[in-house]
Amino acid sequence: MHAITHSLRRRLLGAAGLAALTGCRWDFGDDCSGWDGSYSYAVPVVAALLDEADDCPENPYYAWDRFEAPPDAYCDGLDTAGAGDIVDVRFVARAGVECSYELTCEGYEECPGGRPLQRDGASVLATAMPRADWQTERAPSIAELSDEERTVLREYWFRAGTEEHSSIAAFHRVALELLSLGAPADLVERATRAAQDESGHARDAFALASAYAGTAIGPSALGLGTDVSLATDLVALAVSTAREGAINECLAAYLAAERLRRATDPAVRAVLARVVEEETQHAELAWATLRWCLAQGGSTVRDALREVFATMTLPRAEARPWPAALEAHGVLSPADECACLSACIERVLRPVAASLLAQTREER
Ligand SMILES: [Fe+2]
Ligand SMILES: [Fe+2]
Repeated sequence: MHAITHSLRRRLLGAAGLAALTGCRWDFGDDCSGWDGSYSYAVPVVAALLDEADDCPENPYYAWDRFEAPPDAYCDGLDTAGAGDIVDVRFVARAGVECSYELTCEGYEECPGGRPLQRDGASVLATAMPRADWQTERAPSIAELSDEERTVLREYWFRAGTEEHSSIAAFHRVALELLSLGAPADLVERATRAAQDESGHARDAFALASAYAGTAIGPSALGLGTDVSLATDLVALAVSTAREGAINECLAAYLAAERLRRATDPAVRAVLARVVEEETQHAELAWATLRWCLAQGGSTVRDALREVFATMTLPRAEARPWPAALEAHGVLSPADECACLSACIERVLRPVAASLLAQTREER
């Protein structure tokens, strides 16, 4: 992880026009493990439907068939949660034929793969449908995998595919925003190329997901609706670029580098190698865009960026046994994934963000 830390930091500083500030040395360790904390959160209320005469089941673990959705869905369905596990259930109240509970889910903050299109704080993602026209020829070796491992890999890589697929839309929106704010041609062209890259990442991921599924699957229509809004001022563009590009694409590149380091399947390694390089370029584009926004917008933009960077928190997940086959196919355990994301925030993002904000203060 050491190499990716230095290379990403150097490239992002360069993209943000901060090469002059790289004289200082960052002296961090090189350990990507050891988190033992867990992250838990409460899901307000879930309801079980009863017959009039029945009592509320005290322990709904034994009565999940009465719930509107499988229990994991309540934890997994939260925007901020990755793979959620239920660790506690508390009965709250009965109202008519409904029993309400509060679940405590344990999970980890999810880092989107790349830059899915955002609307109202959530990613706009396609769902799965049978189709073979969103694939590349990537073919992982599946002979040694158990059914459970294939299921996990299919879900992981399909989800990754939908995030990459949505990122195509995000970069087309970025190109429109840059055009509407009079940005340099270089930034507009790079955003357009990035949309093309994301299409390649999506097709690669859907090819892997299809191989694990044993049947061709791809994305449904993307639910854009009629109101894809554009950032219409520099502050709005800088804020979305910082969140979705400068931070998230850096995290995606860093995580992909660690997944590549541990993966052994040749097809998965080829997919990840491409993702590492191109997500790094997308992160560089985001930092270059922030530099341009700051040059145009000055202190208003800088104050908004300071707020965004202050919200970066370190995700954690409890260590648990993890099948080697999943790592071989590019999927890290939640604990290792969180450790990598935290390392990226501490060793790359915070130093680069601090340099960017300090330089703009000096320039004033
Ligand atoms: Fe990307
Ligand atoms: Fe991507």
